[in-house]
Amino acid sequence: MVWCSGWELASAVSNAGGLGIIGAGSMYPEILKEHIQKCKQATNKPFAVNLPLLYSDIDQHIQTIIEEKVPIVFTSAGNPKTWTTLLKEHGVKVVHVVSSVKFALKSEAAGVDAVVAEGFEAGGHNGREETTTLCLVPEVAKVLQIPLIAAGGIGSGRAMLAAFALGADAVQIGSRFVASDESSAHNNFKKAIIIAKEGDTELRLKNLTPVRLLKNNFYEQVKQAEEGKANLEELRAILGKGRAKKGMFQGELHEGELEIGQVASQINEIKPAAEILKEIWQEFLVEKDRLASL
Ligand SMILES: Cc1cc2nc3c(=O)[nH]c(=O)nc-3n(C[C@H](O)[C@H](O)[C@H](O)COP(=O)(O)O)c2cc1C
Repeated sequence: MVWCSGWELASAVSNAGGLGIIGAGSMYPEILKEHIQKCKQATNKPFAVNLPLLYSDIDQHIQTIIEEKVPIVFTSAGNPKTWTTLLKEHGVKVVHVVSSVKFALKSEAAGVDAVVAEGFEAGGHNGREETTTLCLVPEVAKVLQIPLIAAGGIGSGRAMLAAFALGADAVQIGSRFVASDESSAHNNFKKAIIIAKEGDTELRLKNLTPVRLLKNNFYEQVKQAEEGKANLEELRAILGKGRAKKGMFQGELHEGELEIGQVASQINEIKPAAEILKEIWQEFLVEKDRLASL
């Protein structure tokens, strides 16, 4: 997750039994290298790097991932065909993030090892189709031969159980970990997440770069511009440069871009990542037993 998941969060998640992911989308090449090296020092468990494929320094990031022998890469926002073969030739497992059945099948055809099907509820950049996790996961599960990871709206053991019931083999959790001790998000942003209520996020900038935003002044500006039929150039001008950094990393809550999922309304406490994982896992087991006994 851009501005939120550096080596501290990724290694904490991996050490606690999950698969921690470093978000390379907000990192210059030398910064990514540093985070990978620090992550390797902090955990001897597998970890991954997320690489948004539209990123401008993508060649250098790929080089670093290969040189540093990162075991798994999660690619997103781009064509899975472009880098999968090269990464796999170097022994890197590749997982691609999609928001539709069509792209899940394209990813499988491109040779990826697994697919993340991410629903409309999710935080961060999102699909235009508005397909929710509840509807997307079973559709993808029906046609996919390779492992399927569900994402979007999952922040509890009950939600994880639901994802498995829909046909997922694993889950990817984002927003819940933004409000963790080890997340590199600014404390102001973490606090804004724990007070967020149902209805406080909305997908905006659908014609430019769809993103789910926590409502603030910046969101209002975008909304007004979109309702006033602003063109792409005008929207680009409102977005400007560095908005996401300003909001999520520097804690400017009014004018910054605050990316978070609908599940924010269920997040009530900032905690260590290991505790979050434990809580989710325990709730999952309790609910599984409860349902089995019905
Ligand atoms: C602050 C934030 C930043 C994110 N950045 C990225 C990113 O750089 N690349 C990516 O593939 N997904 C990104 N995501 C999406 C997550 O990887 C994940 O799929 C999503 O958060 C799952 O839905 P949830 O937020 O409901 O848990 C981001 C999500 C958040 C909340």
